[in-house]
Amino acid sequence: MYKEFSYIYDKLMKTQVDYNLLVLNLLKICKKNNLYIEDILECAMGTGMLTEKFLEKNFNVDGFDISSDMLAVAYNRLEKFQNKNIFKADVRYFNIDKKYDLILCLFDCVNYLKTLNDIEKFLNNVYIKMKEDSIFFFDLNSEYKLKKYLGNNIFINEQMDIFYTWENFFKKTYIDFKINFFIKEKNFYKRIEETQRQYIYSEEEIEKIIQKVGFKKVEKLDFDTFEKVNKKSYRILYILKKQK
Ligand SMILES: C[S@@+](CC[C@H](N)C(=O)[O-])C[C@H]1O[C@@H](n2cnc3c(N)ncnc32)[C@H](O)[C@@H]1O
Repeated sequence: MYKEFSYIYDKLMKTQVDYNLLVLNLLKICKKNNLYIEDILECAMGTGMLTEKFLEKNFNVDGFDISSDMLAVAYNRLEKFQNKNIFKADVRYFNIDKKYDLILCLFDCVNYLKTLNDIEKFLNNVYIKMKEDSIFFFDLNSEYKLKKYLGNNIFINEQMDIFYTWENFFKKTYIDFKINFFIKEKNFYKRIEETQRQYIYSEEEIEKIIQKVGFKKVEKLDFDTFEKVNKKSYRILYILKKQK
């Protein structure tokens, strides 16, 4: 997972996510909560597209990911910035001797974790790295998206110079993706095959862990619209604080 795919991840995400708008929306929430931000931690930072936006705004950002290939792209992208620290780590076990004003983990990471116990380890780990008034954002692919929208469906798409087929194999508690990318290179198409497994968790299951870890203020929004979550939301954005 996220090996050769890392090198086309950016192209694909750029057609789906406006990272400038995303940062503005996240910072609006921070402002509403009167949060003063200096130090940011980005968990599962991937190729650093979101990281770059925060660095451009002169925040100090530490970021990590489990995939060396994703990090290789991130290193290149973020080379010119001084106020950053990038390392390889697992969200369940990362260990940094620092506390942050803002912690983020966006786009799918929680659904890659195999068990609720793994999610608890991750949330516990984040909790320890937060100051008393810090904010933590993470997202969850909804049950609706994984079961009903992706389900056992096949998608065929063409974006920029990438043609891809996306096959889904839905099982009770997880869903397997098999994605075949065909990338135009001069007179031929290069094929990259990506297989992934995402685990399905209900909002109730996640919220039980959130309570258990000790977060006192819990809000959630539809991540695509930044409005109230509804039955057909694809992605839930959790906004957590240690204090009410
Ligand atoms: C869809 S990408 C999102 C990347 C990035 N957050 C972004 O905004 O584009 C999901 C990332 O989660 C990372 N990941 C998955 N499991 C992880 C784990 N246990 N610890 C750290 N990173 C993980 C993957 O390597 C991948 O880079």
